[in-house]
Amino acid sequence: MRILVAITGASGFPLAVQLLKALKGNEIHLVVSEHAWMVMEYESGMAKGDVLKLAGHVYGPDEIYSPICSGSFPMDAMVVVPCSMNTLGHIANGIEHNAITRAAAVSLKQERKVVLVPRETPLTLPALRNMVKAKEAGCTIIPPMVEYYTKPKSVEDITGYIVGRIMELLGMEHSLYKRWSE
Ligand SMILES: Cc1cc2nc3c(=O)[nH]c(=O)nc-3n(C[C@H](O)[C@H](O)[C@H](O)COP(=O)(O)O)c2cc1C
Repeated sequence: MRILVAITGASGFPLAVQLLKALKGNEIHLVVSEHAWMVMEYESGMAKGDVLKLAGHVYGPDEIYSPICSGSFPMDAMVVVPCSMNTLGHIANGIEHNAITRAAAVSLKQERKVVLVPRETPLTLPALRNMVKAKEAGCTIIPPMVEYYTKPKSVEDITGYIVGRIMELLGMEHSLYKRWSE
């Protein structure tokens, strides 16, 4: 599958890294916001180059004329992970201010799957309303919620559960957590 992963400046950079690793074998296109790189420095010990290596195709947030910003470029799905309230607000309201929000707008226009992983707490009323608007526009909203029923023992386990749920939305097999029935 051809998947576009967009990383924005909300807390949760490790979610994006684990998703990129889980998507190995697919054609991965990656765009990272400037603020996401800043959050990476706080949250992961990774170097920028190590992240970029996880995708076959990489774009800057200002590359508005890149293939991912055109509806004629086929794409199976787009995931914004983590999704900041800033980027959520732009997508929910159809504002195309960079390559990420432009790619989301064209994906919705083409009626493709757009998965948003919005992270903030507590949530403001505008953020809650933007989630509803994004859902109405055709996005799938999957907040990175903690669960306890799989008895997570580490941050990696908690991250794996959330990434597993994203993989399920993409219709992909994974072994990131033990499902209820297993
Ligand atoms: C360490 C750190 C953590 C942040 N966490 C969040 C967050 O969880 N959610 C959020 O909406 N913004 C968060 N922000 C603020 C965003 O980075 C900021 O709103 C930025 O403008 C988002 O831009 P982007 O959508 O282009 O990535 C955080 C910033 C820093 C420095």
